[in-house]
Amino acid sequence: MAIVIVSCKLSFSFYYFLLLLIIIVSQAKAQQNFLYHFCINDNGNYTANSTYQNNLNILLSYLSTNTQINYGFYNFSHGQNTNKVYAIGLCRGDVKPDICRSCLNDARVLLTRLCPNQKEAIVWYDNCMLRYSNRSIFGIMEQFPRFYMSNVNNVTQADQFSLGNFDLITTLNEKAASSTDSRVKYATDNETDVSLNFITIYGLVQCTPDLSLRDCKRCLDAAYLEFQSCCNNKIGGRVFKPSCNIRYDTYLFYDRPLIVDTDETSQPQEKSKSSHTTTIAIVVPTVVVVLVLLTLIICICLRRNRHSMAGLNIEGEEEMTIAESLQFNFDIIRVATSDFSDSNKLGRGGFGIVYQGKLPNGQMIAVKRLSTNSDQGDVEFKNEVILVAKLQHRNLVRLLGFCLEGKERLLVYEFVPNKSLDYFIFDPTRKSQLNWEKRYTIIKGIARGILYLHEDSRLRIIHRDLKASNILLDDEMNPKISDFGLARLFVIGQTQGSTNRIVGTYGYMAPEYAMHGEFSVKSDVFSFGVLVLEIITAHKNSANICHGEDVEYLLTYAWRSWREGQAINIIDPSLSNFSVNEIMRCIHIGLLCIQENVVDRPTMASVALMLNSNSLALSIPSKPAYFMGGGIGRLPDMQQQVDNVSGTRSDESVNQISITDLYPR
Ligand SMILES: *[C@@H]1O[C@H](CO)[C@@H](O)[C@H](O)[C@H]1NC(C)=O
Ligand SMILES: *[C@@H]1O[C@H](CO)[C@@H](O)[C@H](O)[C@H]1NC(C)=O
Ligand SMILES: *[C@@H]1O[C@H](CO)[C@@H](O)[C@H](O)[C@H]1NC(C)=O
Ligand SMILES: *[C@@H]1O[C@H](CO)[C@@H](O)[C@H](O)[C@H]1NC(C)=O
Ligand SMILES: *[C@@H]1O[C@H](CO)[C@@H](O)[C@H](O)[C@H]1NC(C)=O
Ligand SMILES: *[C@@H]1O[C@H](CO)[C@@H](O)[C@H](O)[C@H]1NC(C)=O
Repeated sequence: MAIVIVSCKLSFSFYYFLLLLIIIVSQAKAQQNFLYHFCINDNGNYTANSTYQNNLNILLSYLSTNTQINYGFYNFSHGQNTNKVYAIGLCRGDVKPDICRSCLNDARVLLTRLCPNQKEAIVWYDNCMLRYSNRSIFGIMEQFPRFYMSNVNNVTQADQFSLGNFDLITTLNEKAASSTDSRVKYATDNETDVSLNFITIYGLVQCTPDLSLRDCKRCLDAAYLEFQSCCNNKIGGRVFKPSCNIRYDTYLFYDRPLIVDTDETSQPQEKSKSSHTTTIAIVVPTVVVVLVLLTLIICICLRRNRHSMAGLNIEGEEEMTIAESLQFNFDIIRVATSDFSDSNKLGRGGFGIVYQGKLPNGQMIAVKRLSTNSDQGDVEFKNEVILVAKLQHRNLVRLLGFCLEGKERLLVYEFVPNKSLDYFIFDPTRKSQLNWEKRYTIIKGIARGILYLHEDSRLRIIHRDLKASNILLDDEMNPKISDFGLARLFVIGQTQGSTNRIVGTYGYMAPEYAMHGEFSVKSDVFSFGVLVLEIITAHKNSANICHGEDVEYLLTYAWRSWREGQAINIIDPSLSNFSVNEIMRCIHIGLLCIQENVVDRPTMASVALMLNSNSLALSIPSKPAYFMGGGIGRLPDMQQQVDNVSGTRSDESVNQISITDLYPR
């Protein structure tokens, strides 16, 4: 663009124009507006020269050889079994087939270079999106990973511009989703705000056409909502998700849609072909005139643009910043939770009270109002939240964003409908809703979630407060771990080691952590073992078990029964129709996890392996922590030990409460 501006100031020499136009054209071609990419580690890596890589290369080469237009949507797979690769390519609805193909070609070259060994990756250009994976991605709505861009220019006071004044995007979402043409889900339009000062905004929304009407709408509505985290107060914004993307701005940034174009332009194209026969004498002067006119038009347009933009305080139309901001507006959250009303209270978790809320678009959320003051400044807090929000796994509750306002710090989570595991498993009647099959699924899901936190995510997260009330259940009773990563927000720079601030719940805490503040992935393994035994026995680890004369602590009782070959006795009597093998194996694994000796406890990776492979031999568990010999065991007096660690007094009962809130400072 700079070149064109300069050219206007130069003398009107034809050769200059020709030269400059060639430069401009070639530059425009070379620079295909690459926007952003993600290499996704969660689905594993492939090795160089592997079958997977070979399949990927073959698959991606289809993009350059396939001449089928398919209305800007490409969907391929190649290979067999575990080496099968799936890819989706999508061009913006107004992009012509040749530009689309060249964009996807650039994308495939760049993406395999940027992500040299990830099985799954995604890249966005201005004109297209390309993603591939080793799992089937066709017809599946996916909102993550996502990224945002916003116009650098802020809304000025004089503009009184607010996206909320326009219905444009919601109307477009409707229109694109319900597109009658199943090959395209794309819509653009403009709207002028006649009630204010006649500002016009332009909008563009698009889904991959393989989505159902409902999924497309869900994706677009969610994206629209995210404008307020990325682009609040900006005159333009974009949200990109694998399944959809959405954009608004105050200038016209799209062409007419492809479908309309193809019919209209086919005739002029044929005409120009037939004009090949006309003499060169006519063609050459025409080219010269066209070139001169074109340059003049470009110059005039630029001048005009700069003028009209000055009115709107725009300096560069395409200057966008990538803002992975997750910040919510406090007032929106306040309204969503009816001013944090008691009736919206879901409960009290570690670090603060949790409220249920409903965003203006109808999405349900859970808002945690942090009660503990953190040592961290706002910037560190934000950075930490952004890191935690990147942890995405189907067995983790998703962190959608945060909110900072004065002293208020809020965390906004996805809403998980079915309360938490403790609500079911420890209730004499509700526990019957969880048969063995469900409970086994829950155990395996929790294990996968923890494994992801410990090993597969980019950050190595030790949860430190795993317990039944932190395992939420979705509408199909699949487990989702909540409150992960929170310890990071409060105890700076500690991923492993020892702390004098204990974050956790008695009974679930490994002894080395409860007593000495030493934590590691193995302290989470301990808590997992406790959870497994609770799920199988339907008995709280904190409540003693009475049988006959004896009163016993759950862990002790389980271990003693197992040693005596009576482990079957500890199984929740209300369970029927279970596989004895599975359940005994789970008890065995649970006991391995709660061993007193930290080194003896398995890692989460071995736990996952043991759960998934019935043939794998298990070692013999040694004595669990808190084993007091004899028949009667109970928790040592932890109150005192924890007080020694932090010097703070607790006035709540020892076993049940989460002590995270006891250390304000
Ligand atoms: C994709 O690859 C990962 C890592 O190799 C593997 O765990 C996962 O099961 C694969 N997914 C499918 C659907 O094959
Ligand atoms: C995959 O490769 C990336 C870098 O190339 C690395 O950071 C990551 O840990 C690897 N993941 C696995 C599961 O090996
Ligand atoms: C992969 O194959 C190429 C060409 O056959 C070879 O040059 C390269 O060294 C191989 N790489 C590995 C890691 O085997
Ligand atoms: C896309 O891929 C899926 C799964 O491989 C297939 O069923 C479908 O027909 C494909 N659609 C197109 C338009 O190629
Ligand atoms: C827009 O506002 C933000 C915060 O108020 C400020 O940091 C930024 O510099 C402003 N940008 C422009 C282009 O004025
Ligand atoms: C803007 O909206 C008007 C009225 O709906 C429509 O006629 C016009 O074509 C639109 N322009 C663009 C560029 O979308």
